[in-house]
Amino acid sequence: MSSRLRYSSAMGSFLHRVVFLYLSLSSASNVYGSNICTSRGVTTCQQCLAVDPICAWCSQEEFGKGGSSASRCDLRQNLLDGGCASGDVEFPSSTLTIHEDAPLSDKASGTADDVTQIKPQKLSMTLRPGDAKRFTVSVKQVEDYPVDLYYLMDLSFSMKDDLARLRTLGNELAASMGSTTSKLRMGFGAFVDKTLSPYMLMFPPEAVENPCYGINEQCLAQFGFKHVLSLTEKVARFNEEVDKQQVSRNRDAPEGGFDAVMQAVVCKDKIGWRPDASHLLVYTTDAKTHIALDGRIAGIVQPNDGQCHLDDDNMYNKSTVLDYPSLALMTEKMSENNINLIFAVTSYVLPLYTEYSRLIPGTTVGTLSDDSGNVIELIKEAYEKIRSKVELELLGVPEELNLAFNASCLNGEVIRGLKSCSGLKIGDTVSFSVEAQLRGCPKEKSSTFTIKPRGFKDSLEVTVNFACDCDCEAKAEANSSLCSNGNGTYECGVCQCHPGRLGPRCECSVDDYSPSDDVNCIPKPGTPICSGRGNCLCGQCSCHSNEFGQVWGKYCECDDFNCLRFKGKLCSDHGKCDCGSCKCDVGWEGENCNCTTVKETCVSVASNDLLCSGRGYCHCGVCQCTTPGAYGATCDKCPTCPDSCTLKERCVECQHFKRGQYFKDNSCNRICKDEIKLVDHLVFHQRNAVNCSYKDEDDCLEHFQYYEDESGKSILYVVKEPDCPKGPDILVVLMAVAGAILLLGLIGLLIWKLLVTIHDRREFAKFEEERAKAKWDTANNPLYKGATSTFTNVAYRGN
Ligand SMILES: *[C@@H]1O[C@H](CO)[C@@H](O)[C@H](O)[C@H]1NC(C)=O
Ligand SMILES: *[C@@H]1O[C@H](CO)[C@@H](O)[C@H](O)[C@H]1NC(C)=O
Ligand SMILES: *[C@@H]1O[C@H](CO)[C@@H](O)[C@H](O)[C@H]1NC(C)=O
Ligand SMILES: *[C@@H]1O[C@H](CO)[C@@H](O)[C@H](O)[C@H]1NC(C)=O
Ligand SMILES: *[C@@H]1O[C@H](CO)[C@@H](O)[C@H](O)[C@H]1NC(C)=O
Ligand SMILES: *[C@@H]1O[C@H](CO)[C@@H](O)[C@H](O)[C@H]1NC(C)=O
Repeated sequence: MSSRLRYSSAMGSFLHRVVFLYLSLSSASNVYGSNICTSRGVTTCQQCLAVDPICAWCSQEEFGKGGSSASRCDLRQNLLDGGCASGDVEFPSSTLTIHEDAPLSDKASGTADDVTQIKPQKLSMTLRPGDAKRFTVSVKQVEDYPVDLYYLMDLSFSMKDDLARLRTLGNELAASMGSTTSKLRMGFGAFVDKTLSPYMLMFPPEAVENPCYGINEQCLAQFGFKHVLSLTEKVARFNEEVDKQQVSRNRDAPEGGFDAVMQAVVCKDKIGWRPDASHLLVYTTDAKTHIALDGRIAGIVQPNDGQCHLDDDNMYNKSTVLDYPSLALMTEKMSENNINLIFAVTSYVLPLYTEYSRLIPGTTVGTLSDDSGNVIELIKEAYEKIRSKVELELLGVPEELNLAFNASCLNGEVIRGLKSCSGLKIGDTVSFSVEAQLRGCPKEKSSTFTIKPRGFKDSLEVTVNFACDCDCEAKAEANSSLCSNGNGTYECGVCQCHPGRLGPRCECSVDDYSPSDDVNCIPKPGTPICSGRGNCLCGQCSCHSNEFGQVWGKYCECDDFNCLRFKGKLCSDHGKCDCGSCKCDVGWEGENCNCTTVKETCVSVASNDLLCSGRGYCHCGVCQCTTPGAYGATCDKCPTCPDSCTLKERCVECQHFKRGQYFKDNSCNRICKDEIKLVDHLVFHQRNAVNCSYKDEDDCLEHFQYYEDESGKSILYVVKEPDCPKGPDILVVLMAVAGAILLLGLIGLLIWKLLVTIHDRREFAKFEEERAKAKWDTANNPLYKGATSTFTNVAYRGN
């Protein structure tokens, strides 16, 4: 009796119901009273370990009733409770040990040997199938790291002016790179194309020696690739060698540059790549390039072998024998030799090389001006771009191992599913959390793989031991007497019967059939024996495995092929089908495991590495934009979003005015990809163009319009003259003040006059009123004396 059953009956019906509820909720595939280990009906120790990391196997001879194999695979505790001696329990556990963990270096010292840019450097893991282990990798780029720069130049005729310009390049380049590294070495190589028709001019015969014969000039006979100058500290040597170069001429437009890239990458000794240095391979051209299989036009069928074929004259002497290399081969060899390829190409072929760089990880592209005048700037920018990004690359990971990553870049924020960080400065430390999960059991017992930052020589070496086997298998006994007199092999406590024999001790022969046993093989009355997918032998279902996969279970009810499919692939090829449902591998989710948890594709550079520009969420590696009006792969396009003006404002500041935050931290070129057009005033362009304005550091109002054309290219129309507040005019102020005083005085006077007038009017009216009221005596005032008095002169008698 299993311990679980004993337990539940003892605890009464309440617990019984709880247990029942728990089990029916936990997994549809679980049979009542069993767990994932017991339900699979495994018959060997190895199978048991593969079911789930929690399963253990008891190899004790007398264990369980009649030595039934099913009960030997159980949870470890159940086995111990069931009486299995702990020494007989097979339960390997997953472990992780770090062997080398030297601290990260700060600065590249004199001898670069002891520079450490990744930590830890060596670890080993023991993994059981289905189990996962997690570890953290830290990466730091040291300052003043040595740089090897190999300049690979297209010397076809159209590059004539570029060559002239390059003669002065050496010193400038050394000076310019001197600010980033004190240990620069430069080398030089040139290429044209394979010396075969139709790549080469063959007629008139003089053209073979002087391909410029037809245009009445003198130039060098065509060549495939020649290595001119091995990497050296001596800038003078570089100038000297470049000075000696001459252009050549070929017939078709595309050149054989990829042949040259391959040789420059793999001829380590001739080129002189230092093991402890950044390796920059600058590829300059103004033309398209031939790629793998193009060789067939000239009858070359042998694929490129990725080997060095420079002869004593430093010429690529298999040029006419081997085809051009494929992109995959170039990627592989570049990764092996830690080469950072920089395409410095003219704008005419820029889109083409941009596509190539997408296909070859770790390459950067820059626009070369027509005469290569900007190549120094371009190299510097590309180098900064290379150094501002840390991307982990994986070499030799066994197929059965799944790796999932979380990055914690600058601000400590963890970004799920990312194995790269960008926008870094030299000296920044980033870390990645790595989870390794073993999906199945490979043939070999262990395997070693490498994790390394792209373009670095430093790496972390991980050894994985696959804990797929049981120790007891070593003690297996063939033709054992324990298995019915030698009818089977006794291994890990059970008999592995020879064909035709069955039963725990191989006691039953397939030929002895008794119908009474069939009742044990019918799950429910009315259903077929062993679900119609097996035979009932000796009272047990022996399930038929078919071409689709395995069938198991007490009644053959489970299989590993009836699960959801996506695009015809079971569990999208990213999970295991387990009795009707998909168990997804690490790094995948969803009911059919078609949804990646990797978020790399959702990171938007334009908005400081936010996922989906902060305008949506990342689902299955695809941005679902939630902000109205947002679109684009990372929701980065959204002229009508409220924050679009703010984001673009910083680009106007750095791209046009060469100032602001992005300019200071050198992230302008990385973040802002807009085209700036200066205009006198804004005009209407499209309905979803937005007018923005902001106050700059001088308090001037800058106006610009953010517009995206049909191809998604963003254009910023910036008004040339910002609105600046005008300084106050002293005279105007004085006049205004004086005028105001005058006006105030005048108003005061007027008011005073008005008041006085009103007062007077009132007084007069009062007076009139009083006068009307008064009854004046019209007789003379007694006191009044007339002004004239009349006297009679008595003495007067007329004249
Ligand atoms: C190419 O150069 C190598 C090294 O010098 C030499 O061994 C080989 O024979 C040469 N092959 C041809 C085809 O010239
Ligand atoms: C990454 O983060 C998610 C969520 O934070 C977590 O579920 C997952 O286990 C992490 N993976 C690793 C490799 O650390
Ligand atoms: C086991 O028995 C078979 C015959 O039944 C024989 O061929 C085989 O060699 C034996 N194996 C061992 C190890 O004795
Ligand atoms: C298998 O078992 C049967 C019956 O127990 C016995 O007669 C026979 O000899 C055994 N076969 C072998 C190969 O040992
Ligand atoms: C995953 O499968 C579901 C169901 O078939 C489908 O609707 C969904 O689009 C798929 N997702 C991806 C990322 O392919
Ligand atoms: C932007 O401003 C210009 C000029 O004032 C105007 O013609 C245009 O309609 C404006 N665009 C939007 C989207 O408001």
